[in-house]
Amino acid sequence: MRTKLSRNSQINGNPVNKEMQSSQLMELFEDQLKDILWAENALVKAIPKMISAAESDDLINSLSKHLKETELQVTRLVKVFEAMGKKPSTIKCEAMEGLIAEAIELMEDCEKGSKCDAAIISAAQKIEHYEIATYGTLREFAETLGLRDAEMLLLEILDEEKAADQILTDIAVDVVNMDAAIKHAV
Ligand SMILES: [Fe+2]
Ligand SMILES: [Fe+2]
Repeated sequence: MRTKLSRNSQINGNPVNKEMQSSQLMELFEDQLKDILWAENALVKAIPKMISAAESDDLINSLSKHLKETELQVTRLVKVFEAMGKKPSTIKCEAMEGLIAEAIELMEDCEKGSKCDAAIISAAQKIEHYEIATYGTLREFAETLGLRDAEMLLLEILDEEKAADQILTDIAVDVVNMDAAIKHAV
């Protein structure tokens, strides 16, 4: 008879049951890790395009900072695979591909200035929210699976994504949106 497992039944962050190592949740966890590793690699290539298209110094600085964080996130994700004794690999993330395509389309549709900055922020925040949802879920999966090292690494990334999202909100609200609101559409 199978015992119902709860998070509280874990001891020192170790899985209670060895069955978890080959469980359905472990399989899902690995698949979603591969997905987000693909997404982060794609963002390392896409964020420089956003930086080139941006005008606001605050936006350029925040995107540049997040580019460095994103590069580090790739390294952390590789460590998550290694902590699980797995070789890092990727699965194409259709959602991130679509979000990046939307960002590029928005940038191509406007000239440098506050409207384009507002568009970049809107696209970047959709990306951040996707990442926040993903890392929130992955962190929970890692906790349930008793993968303590993986959980800590994923929590660090989650915190960076939340902070990046908040900074984008601040830049939009403090400067960019109002600037674009007082300029006539052409
Ligand atoms: Fe990220
Ligand atoms: Fe991000």
